[in-house]
Amino acid sequence: MFEILQNFWMPVLPVSELGESPVSVTLAGEKLVLFRTQSGEIRALRDRCSHRSAALSLGRVTPNGCIECPYHGWQFNGDGACVRVPFNDVNKINFSRLAVNSFPTQVIAGCVWIFTGEGKPPVLQIPDSLKLSETAYYIHQEIWKTHWTRAIEASLDFVHLPFVHRESFGQIAQSALESGDVLDLKVNDSGDRIEVFTPYAGVPPTFALEWQQPNLVMVKFDDLGFPVKREHFFAVPIDEHQTQCTIILQMAEGMDAQTQQFAAQEFIKPLVEDRVVVESQIGEIHAIAGECHVPTDKPTLLFRRWYHQTIARQLVLR
Ligand code: FES
Ligand SMILES: [Fe+2]
Repeated sequence: MFEILQNFWMPVLPVSELGESPVSVTLAGEKLVLFRTQSGEIRALRDRCSHRSAALSLGRVTPNGCIECPYHGWQFNGDGACVRVPFNDVNKINFSRLAVNSFPTQVIAGCVWIFTGEGKPPVLQIPDSLKLSETAYYIHQEIWKTHWTRAIEASLDFVHLPFVHRESFGQIAQSALESGDVLDLKVNDSGDRIEVFTPYAGVPPTFALEWQQPNLVMVKFDDLGFPVKREHFFAVPIDEHQTQCTIILQMAEGMDAQTQQFAAQEFIKPLVEDRVVVESQIGEIHAIAGECHVPTDKPTLLFRRWYHQTIARQLVLR
């Protein structure tokens, strides 16, 4: 189960997109079905029936809050237990052998999160900026054809701004580029958290990027008076070649939903500029010895060290 980023909590879907019908998602190489039980709780099961492997997500949710397989109508509850096999004598069936895998879920910051493992998950550690009520956030998702590690690197990089974002907000770095400044990046590194402060003169020094393991990069506009206070960029792996970029924008207080949507577009539009370049890269990030590095690569090199020491090594050992 789960080929990539095993045993982590991941945001997968805006909770507003899960109604009465089941929803299929692919997370870290695994096809899952999300649905609501009778009490409205959100549950995640492996999207493969234990009978003949049909996708449960093609079925329906029954009035008693189970998911019914579209093929022969077997029903599974939110824990993955099989509770009905039509046309068969219940006394001749060992139901305990028919269960499908279920995975822990929770709702945070307007998103459904799934734990990429079985059993009791650890408590999810998230920044305080993700602990507000659902209405504080605007959520955007888009798929990039890239390995998730490349998407993280693009988000943790100040140096690409005047090039990739020449036509948008990259102008903030234009005068530094033209005057030939040597950037001296201020970086705080604690192993599973990397904070990088803006190197550009004229940009408030509190403007910072922060990576938190495994796949979150925050753009901290916090005190700059923008309509977006903080961008939370999650690079959620669909598989080795595709990443579901889930962006949770913490909006300034006092905006209605329509104003939020309008203001958020300015922060979402430049993502396409990143996507084009990132999709031109090939495969996951290299080990430290691969590709070439210069001093301004310090933040992404720290991420590479963490990735290769904690994630890639586990993949080799598995
Ligand atoms: S494949 Fe699901 S009930 Fe037969
Ligand atoms: Fe960018």
